[in-house]
Amino acid sequence: MHVIKAESFEEMSRIAANKVMNLVKEKPSAVLGLATGSTPVGLYRELIQDHRQNGTSYQDVRTVNLDEYVGLEPSSHNSYASFMRDMFFSHIDIAEQNTHIPNGKAGSLEEECQRYDKLIEGLGGVDLQVLGIGRNGHIGFNEPGTSFESTVHVVQLDQSTREANSRFFDSIDSVPREAITMGIASILKSKEILLLASGASKAEAIKQLFEDSVSEQFPASALKTHHNVTLIADQDALQLT
Ligand code: GLP
Repeated sequence: MHVIKAESFEEMSRIAANKVMNLVKEKPSAVLGLATGSTPVGLYRELIQDHRQNGTSYQDVRTVNLDEYVGLEPSSHNSYASFMRDMFFSHIDIAEQNTHIPNGKAGSLEEECQRYDKLIEGLGGVDLQVLGIGRNGHIGFNEPGTSFESTVHVVQLDQSTREANSRFFDSIDSVPREAITMGIASILKSKEILLLASGASKAEAIKQLFEDSVSEQFPASALKTHHNVTLIADQDALQLT
């Protein structure tokens, strides 16, 4: 795993944005794997600014998001579909039909998982996957114990994950208990992976990532088996390493 140390959240975001921009310039029809949460917000901000100032175009780019809560309408303000629209898609020239997010309101969640797996395959796989990391080492919504063989699947969210994400909801009770997520195997199929980490709350997880062996008890450790992963982390996230 290649590690890039950034001074701050802003620098982490700029470094990540440059990687995404370079790929999009090189391959205008690139497939970007995108993530939600606070961590990639600065990356999206940088990309929007670059789009406005330098005209980097996303007309032919396709995106697939990692995950979505089960039970939320795509229009619900807490859905990851809304998050992506508000934070990124509505500010760039991407075509709506080129942006993909699992449907957490699908009649059959099982069929939705299969559909999403096939969709990613049909796009030719992910060229660059952006990832954040949960405090318990989760990536996407793959909680500790998830099989490294997992493809797109439905997960029960850990209480700690629901608590961490409750800041976006009215109360912990309104945080969904389930989500659809790309699995570990789906993530590892990406040609390149950018793992972003910022802030002291991620320091323990980053320490564990460096020190612990590869284990399903710590999902992010699966990334150590991939040949093209770059961790971009700020000083606070690296403080225990
Ligand atoms: C959520 C998302 C993950 C994200 C994680 C960390 O659970 N499903 O994709 O990486 O939270 O979020 P944050 O970046 O807000 O710390």
